[in-house]
Amino acid sequence: MMKGIVKKFPGVVANDHVDLFVEKGEIHAVVGENGAGKTTLMNQLYGLLKPDEGEIYIFGKKVSFSGPGDAIKHKIGMVHQHFMLVNNLTAFENVVLGMEPRKGIFFDRKRAREEVKKLSEEYGLFVDIDAKIEDMPVGMQQRVEIIKTLLRGAEILILDEPTAVLTPQETKELFEILRKLKQSGKTIIFISHKLNEVMEISDRITVMRQGKATGNLITSQTNPREIARLMVGRDVVLTVEKTSREPGEVILEVQDLWVKDNRGLDAVKGVSFAVREGEIVGIAGVAGNGQTELVEALTGLRRVEKGRVLFRKHEITGKNPKILRDFGIFHIPEDRLRRGLVTAYPAYFNVILGRHMMFPFSKNGFLDHKEIRKFAEELFERFDVRPRNVDLPAENFSGGNQQKLIVARELSFSPKLLIVAQPTRGLDVGAIEFIHRTLLSMRDSGVGILLVSMELDEIFSLSDRILVVYGGEIMGEVKPEETTMEEVGLMMTGHRLEEIRR
Ligand SMILES: Nc1ncnc2c1ncn2[C@@H]1O[C@H](COP(=O)(O)OP(=O)(O)OP(=O)(O)O)[C@@H](O)[C@H]1O
Ligand SMILES: [Mg+2]
Repeated sequence: MMKGIVKKFPGVVANDHVDLFVEKGEIHAVVGENGAGKTTLMNQLYGLLKPDEGEIYIFGKKVSFSGPGDAIKHKIGMVHQHFMLVNNLTAFENVVLGMEPRKGIFFDRKRAREEVKKLSEEYGLFVDIDAKIEDMPVGMQQRVEIIKTLLRGAEILILDEPTAVLTPQETKELFEILRKLKQSGKTIIFISHKLNEVMEISDRITVMRQGKATGNLITSQTNPREIARLMVGRDVVLTVEKTSREPGEVILEVQDLWVKDNRGLDAVKGVSFAVREGEIVGIAGVAGNGQTELVEALTGLRRVEKGRVLFRKHEITGKNPKILRDFGIFHIPEDRLRRGLVTAYPAYFNVILGRHMMFPFSKNGFLDHKEIRKFAEELFERFDVRPRNVDLPAENFSGGNQQKLIVARELSFSPKLLIVAQPTRGLDVGAIEFIHRTLLSMRDSGVGILLVSMELDEIFSLSDRILVVYGGEIMGEVKPEETTMEEVGLMMTGHRLEEIRR
């Protein structure tokens, strides 16, 4: 239980007298818009931040944490919005990092392994414990994080937007795990922007808006509409109008493209397609079927093994990102922390990243900070990045607002071709609506857009054509108005369109 929690940052009251009552053995959802204060609240429960005011009680006992170590002692575990695993270690090494059980003075690997194995079987957390983190799909990385908390004795588990990065299948598996954890008496705090998930998995819900707790609901007695209203203070409609439009010339052409993954295996196997001006081509598929490698190859971040990429008939195969930008090709990456932001730098610098050497931001080799700030302030206003503080380091923005920063930057370059991966991951409903409208208006003004997304709803409502990938190949091409979710779903699991329609 948290009572009257106040947490201020310079210029923002992130938590304003928030009460959170969580009962033992329940799954408690915390929802709210980007920047509402959810992560901040949880970071205080996990000892990462100290409340300015308020009290925290764990199993009825008043506590005061001066670090996560204290929280762990009180059986609290947290899986963060951005994972904190060490990429080049194995799952097992990550799990035991910092808590190696000792046998004499030596690290007892054998015992630790057995414990990890026991835990993962008990809760259905199947994890290849000898694989390196960087070679794992995110769903599995997340399970490693969960095992890590369980091994440290967690009875209360905080999961900050665990499903934002998961495929529908992985989400289903995670929910199975959460149910098992609940059955065994564990308490779970679950943060999500997806109200259907909240309805499915939670027992009770705390709603936050602008730092305050605005609602305390019993899931079985509420509905998504009511939750959304408490979140944003008004009714929300989640539909965007797409006008029909004749696309123009071919702007991107991909011919028989082959790309390898990190392990040196073929990830993209002879893919060919085209994107025209004023058209959104959606790539649907379960994560891990070559989309990431395809996007990286097209944006100059990964080697092309074979095949060609043409931009308006110019060969651009294997060109570096800087040259591609000069052509007018921009990219919204799926991994915002690794590829999208220099997190320790102020936001105003991050929004010009990639063109900081250009006029008007750079004059005679010096950055014109005043000019850049002015530009950043305009972008913040247009894209509703909160808080409106361009001097704040990128890392101090909430997860969703970091994403808005990147989207704002890339869309403001006046792109000719946009390669967009998971653009609305971690965004609240209002922000999703805004990004969708912006992408559609860019399409209407003639920009060619390649959209990779795991959200089928997003693919359906934005795309003019949908390509479905499976195992690094295209299973078929369909138009959203001429297909169904079922048909696309079948292709996503490896059935070719010709087979299905035969
Ligand atoms: N270290 C910090 N320094 C300054 N401001 C911060 C810091 N951490 C968070 N904030 C601010 O506190 C507010 C709440 O952020 P928080 O991360 O808790 O939001 P959230 O509800 O988790 O949002 P999201 O859904 O986008 O993840 C935001 O305005 C954010 O910019
Ligand atoms: Mg957050």
